[in-house]
Amino acid sequence: MSLQLGDTAPDFTAQTTQGTIHFHKWIEGSWCVLFSHPKNFTPVCTTELGYTAKLTSEFDERGVKVIALSCDSLEAHDSWSRDIEETQGYAPDFPLIADHDRKVATLYGMIHPNASDTVTVRSVFVIGPDKKIKLTLNYPASTGRNFDEILRVIDSLQLTSKFQVATPVNWKKGEDVIIVPAVADEAARTRFPGGWKAPKPYLRIVAQPES
Ligand code: BEZ
Repeated sequence: MSLQLGDTAPDFTAQTTQGTIHFHKWIEGSWCVLFSHPKNFTPVCTTELGYTAKLTSEFDERGVKVIALSCDSLEAHDSWSRDIEETQGYAPDFPLIADHDRKVATLYGMIHPNASDTVTVRSVFVIGPDKKIKLTLNYPASTGRNFDEILRVIDSLQLTSKFQVATPVNWKKGEDVIIVPAVADEAARTRFPGGWKAPKPYLRIVAQPES
């Protein structure tokens, strides 16, 4: 059975470009993005890793550790990292897992045999400080992911983990949010003393609480 939201992210030990990582120990109470790449020295992957490296300060601001994986050797990762810097302007400054025996890819269900039995799909796992899986995405090899969207989801996950709110369609940090149905009006008056708009009793829109 595939990993589902709310499951504990499986632990593993792996060789990476930043040394041996014991995953649970490495997470150490941070948020984490773990994502896979089909193969080294491939064009779409090269752009994704370069762009993710460019976003380092955005991930740092949010307290998120980033770790990437592909089923290639450490030597190939080092050589490919130099290509990424040369072509994208940014070298990956986060660890790349050298999963040559596919141990981690198999543990996380990143190989979808009916798509390809030789390479991983483009999987993303957002993992919370409690080591639970908060988001999963699987893209085909031919479609590069949108890492700005991953940051947007992290903003929503971090906000909704602190306050009893949900974020509406296309929400971006700073925009109005929604009071979750589990909070009755009476409790909402205490939590949101500035009030809210309610075009329907079940649709209560409030300014984003400041974290
Ligand atoms: C790519 O990263 O460009 C790629 C990798 C595997 C299959 C197709 C494209």
